[in-house]
Amino acid sequence: MSSRIPGFYKLSIEERLKKVAEFSGLSDDEIRAVLNQGLPLDVADRMIENVIGTFEMPLGIATNFLIDGKDYLIPMVIEEPSVVAAASNAARMARESGGFTTDYTGSVMIGQIQVTKLADPVSAKFEVLRHRDEIIEKANECDPMLVNLGGGCKDVEVRVVDTIMGKMLIVHLVVDVKDAMGANAVNTMCEKVAPFVERITGGRVYLRIISNLASYRLARAKAVFDKDVIGGEEVVEGIMLAYAFAAADPYRCATHNKGIMNGISALMIATGNDFRAVEAGAHSYASLGGYKPLTTYEVDRKGNLVGTIEVPMAVGVIGGATKVNPLAKISLKILGVKTAEELARVAAALGLAQNFAALRALATEGIQRGHMELHARNLAIMAGASGEEVDKVVEVMVREGKIRLDYAKEVLEGLRS
Ligand code: MEV
Repeated sequence: MSSRIPGFYKLSIEERLKKVAEFSGLSDDEIRAVLNQGLPLDVADRMIENVIGTFEMPLGIATNFLIDGKDYLIPMVIEEPSVVAAASNAARMARESGGFTTDYTGSVMIGQIQVTKLADPVSAKFEVLRHRDEIIEKANECDPMLVNLGGGCKDVEVRVVDTIMGKMLIVHLVVDVKDAMGANAVNTMCEKVAPFVERITGGRVYLRIISNLASYRLARAKAVFDKDVIGGEEVVEGIMLAYAFAAADPYRCATHNKGIMNGISALMIATGNDFRAVEAGAHSYASLGGYKPLTTYEVDRKGNLVGTIEVPMAVGVIGGATKVNPLAKISLKILGVKTAEELARVAAALGLAQNFAALRALATEGIQRGHMELHARNLAIMAGASGEEVDKVVEVMVREGKIRLDYAKEVLEGLRS
């Protein structure tokens, strides 16, 4: 089935869910769980401490995504209007020239062991590297299942870092975590090998923790946006100027990258992933060598816009809330992904789509019209409009530039009489 569903936004919630259920093969129970916002209290109570309830957010579906030749409906949990519509719109334009192509460097995370109180840190570094194989072996004793799947600790890296508290030895365990986000596996390994590292270095270990700068776990995506599809040469130039602005100015770049994360984090929340970890990874990766955009844009020989993204993507489809929260499981089913790799690839494509949509809007009419239209829709519904009345009331409010509840009521009365 195609993810290109024209007029999806005009359907009722039930009609939309029916289409999504057909696309993804959701069962009646799963449909009910989505409609009933199904995170049971007893499950919530086991997820964190001091639970007093659950907190709902809208779950929307971005349509039109064609990624590596496969159609995706992308679940997004976000409080901000226009984000889901913008992603769907960008994906519609990208699919005209074949959609998104992606790449992934593997599910490799870094765990850090901080060795302090060393008189001779360079000699300690030598000792750690000399015992590399033993360290890997000890780390891999923690998780035979992961090792069986082809994952586990693969390498050891060591740096001497100069700090305000003197020189420290920072040992990295390089771990292939396969389909998990990886924090549990990596942290356990770091804690396990720390006493051995103390023994061979003569130092004192304090921190043993994963790094969220997942620079070995990069997801990449690329899309060509046909100039005629996106509005012509002027739009291409406007987007190039917007990109140049972000690349030159960290104040703009923060907002540029924030827009990317609007999409990625919404997918992370929908799938029960640790969105703070992904945010931390994205911004720290962007700051290596000076804070830069996570996306790039170029104009090809035909004058079309070529966008790319490269972003660390520490995501999982097993462990954590992905399997505990029933809605996260359903989101993964809607998405139709079974591996962390595929989720990472989709997330990168979504981030690129989100960024392209924001730059196109900003470089042309601005983003407020879309926001105001949505606001006007809400007001029309609050005023009592239903069905086709909603579109008509919105049209008048936007045309007249009067987006207020009292005016929505006035327009509705006028329509009905
Ligand atoms: C708003 O949430 C995101 C944008 O500000 C992103 C951007 O400016 O590129 C529209």
